[in-house]
Order: sequence, then structure tokens, then C-alpha cells
Amino acid sequence: MRSDFGTTSKGENASLYTMKNKNGMTAAVSDYGAVLVKVLVPDRDGNMQDVVLGYDDVRGYESGTLYFGATVGRVANRIGGGAFELNGKTYVLTQNDGGNTLHGGKDYYDKRMWEVREADDSHVTLMLHSPDGDQGFPGEVEILVTYTLTDENEIKICYHAVPAEDTLMNLTNHSYFNLSGHASGLVLDQEVMICADAYTEADAQSIPTGRVIPVQDTPMDFRERKPIGQEIGADYQALVFGQGYDHNWVLNGSGYRQAAAMYSAQTGIEMKVYTDLPGMQFYTSNFIVQENGKEGAVYRKRQAACFESQYFPDAVHKEQFEGPVVRAGESYDTVTVYQFR
Ligand code: BGC
Repeated sequence: MRSDFGTTSKGENASLYTMKNKNGMTAAVSDYGAVLVKVLVPDRDGNMQDVVLGYDDVRGYESGTLYFGATVGRVANRIGGGAFELNGKTYVLTQNDGGNTLHGGKDYYDKRMWEVREADDSHVTLMLHSPDGDQGFPGEVEILVTYTLTDENEIKICYHAVPAEDTLMNLTNHSYFNLSGHASGLVLDQEVMICADAYTEADAQSIPTGRVIPVQDTPMDFRERKPIGQEIGADYQALVFGQGYDHNWVLNGSGYRQAAAMYSAQTGIEMKVYTDLPGMQFYTSNFIVQENGKEGAVYRKRQAACFESQYFPDAVHKEQFEGPVVRAGESYDTVTVYQFR
């Protein structure tokens, strides 16, 4: 179902596409930024809880800088030094995070109108045309993102792109989840599990050093479900640098598999995350100061968690990390699923 989602400051009309499944779950996506705006899940008492942070209309998404629900590209996460070399040529990007590039660097994908290619009660396909040189990256490409709400209570996000030239691609979804409801406050008592025996060490600017550190005996160990807040304040260098969790976990196994889970004892809502990508940024919204959100909610630090499936940050500068180079004519296809119960 399509509804109006307001008008941007440039006068573009934005829409909201709402999907429903047979269990009463609802998800809504906007053509502005291909952002995931709402995820309504029944809690244990049958009340609907909106479990993602967001804004009431397009103007919020236009002025927001936190990537709520965002589709992030062309390269999500960081590129050290804001530049890279490909086929002997140097490409200079915008340094928007110290001297580094974060989430594309400028003219973000979540600040543009996407073209809706298909939409019905169970899926929405959006397209972004990204020209050669967009954000500083080479290679023209049409990016397709399909959100599907299945009767298995999955929000399935499929990415498809075939660049015209060799380029870098690393698309992710930056939804902020709070399984007690988007306006319920801190998530520190909600439990998280991450299917990873290791994480990538990063410096004080969050650029990976190249070292892969076992999580064993560290506060980064989420192999067994534990409250997010249990060790978040530990005197551990990674947590000090990140001001909480803001790291890439090296997901166990390969191919499509479970990456993580989150659980709220308050609502009984559980979310499982699946992906075919090698890594996942688990970010505990350490840098939200105060943000006015949906339905009068005011969001602050640690009131949500992001599970951003990805190639490892700065992979372009690390030979031992897979991706994110996609060759001309090659198909970039990845999938990430958030499943609720
Ligand atoms: C990054 C954080 C950053 C956030 C922006 C995350 O993917 O890892 O460092 O502050 O995005 O909302």
C-alpha cells in the first residue's frame, strides 16, 4: 500500500510503501533513501511494537544524520585515508569522518529519491542510478534493493547491481533496533548473540589494523546470548575507542547463515539476523546525543543496536580481507534477513 510521506525541501514527493504478512506483521519502506521506516511486530501480549528508530516523515530523514533505517553505499563503513587505488588509478573520496570516509562520504544514498520498480503487499523493489564518479567512485551502476516481508516474519533485503566498470561495492542497511519498542529507552538489558569467534581490531579512528582478534575472554564475546550492557563499560581498548560496541565481527562460516540474534525479555520479541556476507558491524548507537524521532520520541545514546552486514571495513586496503572490489559486468548480489518471533 502506498501513502504520502511528505515533500522534501527540494519539492520531491516521497512515498511510504507498507507491507503486511498473514501474522499481522507490518514493515514500511520509503522511496526517499530506500529507508526502512517501520517494523511492527506483535509482542507476547499481542500488542504491536515498532522496533526500529525513525522519523514521522521525509523531512526527518532529510535532516537526520544518523542513518536511521538507511540503505548505505556505495561503500558502507570506513575507507581509511579517504582514498583508494584500483587498477593503478587513485580515487579520492570525501573525508567525512576525521581523515577517513564513512558510509559513502557525501551525497549519501539515503538522501536521494529512489525509483520504485515494483511494490505490492509483500515486497518493494527500489532502484538508484549511480553514475560514474558518484561520491568519487568509478563505474556507473544501477542498484536494486528489494525488501520482502515474508510469512515467516522475515524482512529480507536483497541487493543487486552490475557495475559498468571495476568499482567498489558494499551496501548495507543501517536500521537501529530496539525490541522493547523504538521509544522504550535503553537497550542495555536486551540480549545479543553474535555468531563470531573473532572481530577485527581497529584503531582509535575505527580503521581496522588488519589483525583479527579472538573474542574468547574479551567483552567482545557474544557467542552465548548476554545483555548488551553486561560488559559495555569494561576497561577494554576496543570499547574505549568505540565508546561502546562499534566493531566488525568476523562471522563464522560462509554462505548464507545466521549472523546474530537479539532478544527483549520485556516484550518477548526475538530477532535473528542472517546474511551471506563475511562481516557485521554491531553498533550500540554510541553517538546519538539527542534526536527527535517518530511519534514524539526522543532518542539518546544506547537506545538501539545496529546489525550492519558488510565486507570488513577498509577491506580495499587490506589484502587479507575479502571484497569489496566488483569487476565490470560482474553481478553483486547479497542478502540480509531480519527475522522476528
Ligand atoms: C559506524 C559508527 C557511526 C554510525 C553512524 C556505524 O556504522 O560504525 O561509527 O557512528 O554508523 O550512525
